Amino acid sequence: MKTLKIMTAVFALFGLVCLAGGCGAPPVPELMPVEEETEILPVPDAPEEGVKAGVFYYSFSDTYLAGVRTCLDIALHEAGIPFVNYDAQSSQSVQNGQIDTALSSGINLLIVNVVSAGNTEAATEIIEKARHRNIKVIFFNKPIEGEDEEGTLLNEFDNIAFVGTDASQSGHMQGKMIGEYVRDHYSETDLNGDGVISYALFKGEALNPEAIYRTRYSVEDADAVLEEAGYPHMEYFDPSNYDHFQLDLAGTWSDEAARRYMSANLEEYGVPRGNMIELVICNNDNMAEGAIAALNEYGYNTGMEGSVTIPVFGVDATEYARQLIASGRMTGTIVQDAGKMAEIIAHLAVNASQGKDLMEDAFSSFPGTESHIKNKIIIPYSYYDPEAESTGAGDGTETPDGAEASDEAGASDGAGGEGGADD
Ligand code: GAL
Repeated sequence: MKTLKIMTAVFALFGLVCLAGGCGAPPVPELMPVEEETEILPVPDAPEEGVKAGVFYYSFSDTYLAGVRTCLDIALHEAGIPFVNYDAQSSQSVQNGQIDTALSSGINLLIVNVVSAGNTEAATEIIEKARHRNIKVIFFNKPIEGEDEEGTLLNEFDNIAFVGTDASQSGHMQGKMIGEYVRDHYSETDLNGDGVISYALFKGEALNPEAIYRTRYSVEDADAVLEEAGYPHMEYFDPSNYDHFQLDLAGTWSDEAARRYMSANLEEYGVPRGNMIELVICNNDNMAEGAIAALNEYGYNTGMEGSVTIPVFGVDATEYARQLIASGRMTGTIVQDAGKMAEIIAHLAVNASQGKDLMEDAFSSFPGTESHIKNKIIIPYSYYDPEAESTGAGDGTETPDGAEASDEAGASDGAGGEGGADD
């Protein structure tokens, strides 16, 4: 086996150090430039030219990511990049093991949807593994840095990139959409007529910034719209729950978690008792599906004449959510473009395959994307407009300022079936 030794300036990671001396600031990995002789380990069975990619998903059961996977399988295939998909089944240690196995079997490009989002720990370990082999890493979807430490990794390392969203954008958009809906349908939403809207909220994952911001802004921004219109703030339905949300403890943003919570809620809260939950806010469409399934069990949101519909909101605009909205059983969603995410990842993979910088031509090739962080590319969300979709007047998406999205910033299906070249 050929071992390549090079002299190079590298950044060594000296663990996690709280620079602010325990004052509450997030720990930041301290990056020390050192001259050292780095041994670049050979990659056995790596292709002579180009790359062979390993695509590591946190879970194959996640609906939105199943959509990304379907599109990415096609995009990588069309780009002529051989790849293998891996399902970490929601375990970071399983994913780390899969990466080790892949690296020793000839994979020389890592495309990673980390399991543990919202801190630098998981990504740091993966970057270390790749750095020793001079391999590039494309992270996607789950933020690899916490709420207040953006750029800690992405501004530091050149051989990594992140394809995802501005974690707070969908929360703000969802909040505005909910506030405007409730403002415009106040008396019909206020089922018990007590003047206050009582809501339930389902959170997908504890530490993921996307989940944190959706949970916060869906309520704060809706309340701001209501306040401006002279209405009181919404109230969480269960006064004994100080979190003001119910969490998918497995961190999988699942319909099943929301269905279970909502069924239990409906045991106690209902129209006949005058304490009905009047609005349901979900971190994503899959949870909205689960909440609607539970509501259906109690005769709500069936779409049939006479059935009371509780407004349910999600994010992603999955194919099934679009159908629920079309049949009047769900009220609204925000489009997250699974197809665009796949296309951008494939573009970066082609760059890696051609020995270019990962981010070369990324922003110019995908109008509408942007970033304030060096190696991060942000795909914008858009409002889902069911009328535009049903009349064929557009692709069902609207940009945040209300103008209809162009093809470039528009939606793809957002949901897909199982598939892919699994490991
Ligand atoms: C979000 C998406 C969720 C779930 C999550 C996983 O962006 O809206 O449905 O897929 O990512 O990290």
